[in-house]
Amino acid sequence: MLMHLFFQYRQSTGKIKQQIAYLVVIFRKIKNAYLTRPQSKVYRGTKPTSISGSFKVMKTIDVVLTGQSCALAELMNKTKNDRRYPSVIEVSTEEHRTIVREIFSRIGKRYDFLNRLLSFRRDIAWRRFAVEQIKPQPNRIWLDVATGTADVAIQVLHHHKNIRIFAVDFVDEMLQLGQSKVRRIPTKTPIAFGVIDAQNLALVDESVGTVSVAFGLRNMTDRGRAIREFYRVLIPGGDLVILEMALPATPWKRKIFSFYLKRILPAISNLFSPYNDAYRYLGDSISHFPPADDIFDLLRDAGFVDIVCHPLTFEVPWVFIARRPPKILAASSG
Ligand SMILES: C[S@@+](CC[C@H](N)C(=O)[O-])C[C@H]1O[C@@H](n2cnc3c(N)ncnc32)[C@H](O)[C@@H]1O
Repeated sequence: MLMHLFFQYRQSTGKIKQQIAYLVVIFRKIKNAYLTRPQSKVYRGTKPTSISGSFKVMKTIDVVLTGQSCALAELMNKTKNDRRYPSVIEVSTEEHRTIVREIFSRIGKRYDFLNRLLSFRRDIAWRRFAVEQIKPQPNRIWLDVATGTADVAIQVLHHHKNIRIFAVDFVDEMLQLGQSKVRRIPTKTPIAFGVIDAQNLALVDESVGTVSVAFGLRNMTDRGRAIREFYRVLIPGGDLVILEMALPATPWKRKIFSFYLKRILPAISNLFSPYNDAYRYLGDSISHFPPADDIFDLLRDAGFVDIVCHPLTFEVPWVFIARRPPKILAASSG
């Protein structure tokens, strides 16, 4: 079928409109064949027991999806503004957590591809910049929290020698993708993986030399708690590096980027991912992420010192570097 369409496309040389029409049909066929959601996906979210409001509707859709996907369109129309996930400001912390878990347990395979596409491949440079800001002490553990598909851990592997990398996330599906990527890299530095919640790190106090978190803080429901956990597990003198995205502070950049989030991002993700509702969440979570000053305050309140922040492309991604004070400094200031 595709071959036939392609042949007709070649035959129609010179007639631009006809060629475009063939290309659109070919693209749709490929999209339907390879990019659409499987009809009976096994639902793997947490049980919808304590869920309320529009979120409940979303759960109903998922339950329906496991059986008859044809009911989806009808149910979608019943949700507020045709969106499946409520805004992060409309939900309780428990609901937010459930949404995050669910999104990342489903989004997996398209995650890297869409990251590159939506950021015009800048995401790789941002992670590299973040990782390069740190000079880790040899043989210390580098803990990459909310590691997802391990892109930061892989950058650490490429940029720093003689360290041990521990990559953790609370979604097993993301970790598995990360693990299979790491397996393909010829390296002697091992990366250990673990299913661990950033807000409750199952690690002993003062056990790691560096903590990194990229595009993860935004998804955490109690950021203050997560930052205090990072402080707790860091050795005195250890470094924290955070990479996160927020709306730019400069008004004209803010307008352009808001337009990108509201209009362009959903359109692109709609073309390439069956989980475009997840990408609406992405835009929503960036829009509501607090400004750099607030993150600065959270870091200072947790006890971090030498805090520096670097705005990157278009003031959207930010890199925060902070240090747990060394013992002598901590003792003299206390
Ligand atoms: C946008 S992805 C970022 C992944 C990766 N760090 C990167 O640079 O692409 C966010 C990740 O944070 C994880 N996450 C969100 N909240 C978390 C939490 N409380 N504890 C651990 N991981 C969390 C999600 O499972 C997801 O894999």
